[in-house]
Amino acid sequence: MKIMQVEVRVGRAEVETAEVLVVTHCDGEGFQKQDVGQLNKALGGALSDVVQSKEFEGKPGEALLYHTQGKVPAKRVLLIGLGKKKDLTLDGLRQAMGHAVKRVRQTKAATYSVSVPATTPKGCSAVEVAQAMTEGATLGSYQFDVYRSENAVGREISQMTLLTPLKGQVRQFAEGVRRGKATAEAAWFVRDLCNHPSNVMTPARIASEAKAIAKHEGLALKILEQKDMEQLGMGALLGVARGSHEPPKFIILEYNGAKRKDERPVVLIGKTITFDTGGISLKPAENMEHMKADMTGGAEVLASVRAAARLKLPLRLISILPVAENMPGGRAMKPGDIVTTLSGKTVEVQNTDAEGRLILADALAYAQRFNPAVVIDIATLTGACVVALGQFAIGMFGTDAKLKDQLRKSGQLSGERVWEMPLWDEYFEQLRSDVADMRNIGGRGGGMITAALFLSKFAGDGPWAHIDIASTDWSERERAYIPKGPTGIGTRLLLQFLIDRSL
Ligand code: BES
Ligand code: ZN
Ligand code: ZN
Repeated sequence: MKIMQVEVRVGRAEVETAEVLVVTHCDGEGFQKQDVGQLNKALGGALSDVVQSKEFEGKPGEALLYHTQGKVPAKRVLLIGLGKKKDLTLDGLRQAMGHAVKRVRQTKAATYSVSVPATTPKGCSAVEVAQAMTEGATLGSYQFDVYRSENAVGREISQMTLLTPLKGQVRQFAEGVRRGKATAEAAWFVRDLCNHPSNVMTPARIASEAKAIAKHEGLALKILEQKDMEQLGMGALLGVARGSHEPPKFIILEYNGAKRKDERPVVLIGKTITFDTGGISLKPAENMEHMKADMTGGAEVLASVRAAARLKLPLRLISILPVAENMPGGRAMKPGDIVTTLSGKTVEVQNTDAEGRLILADALAYAQRFNPAVVIDIATLTGACVVALGQFAIGMFGTDAKLKDQLRKSGQLSGERVWEMPLWDEYFEQLRSDVADMRNIGGRGGGMITAALFLSKFAGDGPWAHIDIASTDWSERERAYIPKGPTGIGTRLLLQFLIDRSL
């Protein structure tokens, strides 16, 4: 499916020609003059009538479609609820636009317009509003139909037009749309990569995706093959890959939009396990198919570097993807095996299913050679994250207060919110091994924490944050702008962080 176009236009709702015109409404508010009062008037008060009769109140998620029968140039008006005015947030707008695009699709319209609401969230700029609206609509229209027979998913919407009566805001809206398109496009890309099954999205295929991005965006690309990793001594990544017939890859992509070319880079590292069977410590069969998305972190850092280049952000960014498939096989790593990591530290692998921290250990050590300003790793790391935080919060750990504050802020703006967990050294006693420098599991209790603490031993002394998206990378149900299955959550968090950092 193709992503839809988004445009901004100056104009008034009552004279807008459209197959569907989306009009938002806050619960308990009237139809003000400056907003859609004129449209309501032209429709003979039809909009205020349905509100008065309580057929449509304006609650979040509420929608009502009205055929205008020639009273105005728009064929249909779709009323969408925003909830109470005082509670409106950027994410509320995003969700409303997600609901709207799905309802518009049911009408079979190919294009539609949205009247930008006069009521916007408190303290938000026009750029942020347009960005959120673009994101909600674009993310909400996502479908993965690559492996379906023709016409299985219905008609595509090719364009949405954001309509504003305020000429003075057009430039800001256009900038918001530009950002929103970039972040939503990045999330689409991540969802696609995660939806592809592991027999297609192999480590080799990830490498070819990276090559295509490097070529299109003009980025510097380096791919380490197995023999290179052997030479360097990446024993942890090699250990994880041993059980698979798919050779591992270690991918480094660099975008340099900084004014000073030798600026210290932001380094993003994404866990890229193209399938996690657990290895010899085999996972149970139930839901194991979700583990095709164990490469979400890698897809996100790939999407981030592509989007940073497309947005021409003035910063230096390096994305690193340690890529492997975690399989049980004749040569697979076994519980009790000891690997020597790139850092020189040894690890006793007591559970081969705790493979993410192993590949990340080598990637974190490798990142040090870039003298990074900050390092952020993102990973579907622990089942314990699912238990601790459920579906709505992303786990965050870090060594630097400023970096954590920035991530919290980006999380708030993007609607992909992080929640800090402790990185206290006391927990390290759970990672002690009798035979090596540490073991790769922390035993009972605090599983998300011991995994993060393990990573910290490889993260160097500079500012570092670890983001665990294990609970949010996959959704059990469809939501306003989140599909069932791979969500791509974390992508817009990272991108918002990069956008805010470069402002
Ligand atoms: N990829 C999994 C974590 C995961 C679980 C992601 C559920 C998404 C949903 C990870 O590699 C894993 O298996 N972790 C183990 C670690 C344990 C053996 C210490 C876990 O969390 O069970
Ligand atoms: Zn695992
Ligand atoms: Zn895993």
